[in-house]
Amino acid sequence: MRSQECGRVNFVQVKSKQQAAWASGDFSKVASRIVWVAEQLVESADVQAGDRVLDVATGSGNAAIAAARRNAVVVGVDYVPSLLERARLRAEAEHLDVVFLTGDAEDLPVCGESFDVVTSVFGSMFAPNQYLAADELSRVCRPGGKIALASWTPTGYIGEMFEIFSRFIPPTPGLESPMLWGHADRLEELFRPNAATFVHTRRNCLFKWRSAEENLNFFRTYYGPTLRAFERLDEVTGKELSEALIDLSHRFDRNKGRGALCMEGEYLETVITKR
Ligand SMILES: C[S@@+](CC[C@H](N)C(=O)[O-])C[C@H]1O[C@@H](n2cnc3c(N)ncnc32)[C@H](O)[C@@H]1O
Repeated sequence: MRSQECGRVNFVQVKSKQQAAWASGDFSKVASRIVWVAEQLVESADVQAGDRVLDVATGSGNAAIAAARRNAVVVGVDYVPSLLERARLRAEAEHLDVVFLTGDAEDLPVCGESFDVVTSVFGSMFAPNQYLAADELSRVCRPGGKIALASWTPTGYIGEMFEIFSRFIPPTPGLESPMLWGHADRLEELFRPNAATFVHTRRNCLFKWRSAEENLNFFRTYYGPTLRAFERLDEVTGKELSEALIDLSHRFDRNKGRGALCMEGEYLETVITKR
């Protein structure tokens, strides 16, 4: 069973901690800064009017809403109800019909083979049981349909940010890094049993801030994983983490300190055609 290939990690415990982290802060404020990743992904997946689209780990609905803008018939799923409330408000503001359901990416509350396109933007990659999350994305997609993913790469800005977190707060032993989804080989291993073809494209998501300090304050306030990391550190180590994150922002600054900050957040876009 693929679900047992992940060792002896207590997935239930890990997932409940992760869920609390994503529910903290306000991810919808971060999501509004990465809207175009979702817009690009639905185009790469060639979403057409009338397509049935499922957006997994939709958060405040970026890719679900992007698909609805193309007159697809859309469902978004996430396990944080407060983010889904934001998603509903956003869809309503644009007069778009989207159904948002509370549910787990490892146990999706929808029937098998019921969607033409299944998307996940920086979402399913965070599920602790990676085999199960991949199998669920495949299960709900019809044969010949598309599974479209955006995954942070380990060597990009967000990938390195998580690497820094793990230096300060060691991750659960045996738990695989979400950033593995940023490797084409890994995705091909996870999806190969159900995939006919893979198209991988490396892209950059730009984060623009007036300064590294503004960027840090924003992430510590609104981005659950950053907020939670600081909560678990004392004042001295918290200061060290701040310094490491500021240094990271400077390293990824395309403007190299000349004027405002423009950080490149590398991610892997993958479009899989289901067998
Ligand atoms: C980085 S956010 C991305 C949200 C959204 N896809 C976007 O692009 O704005 C990660 C999202 O994944 C959701 N998530 C993580 N693990 C999940 C799981 N096992 N089941 C459902 N949602 C999950 C979180 O609640 C959060 O909304």
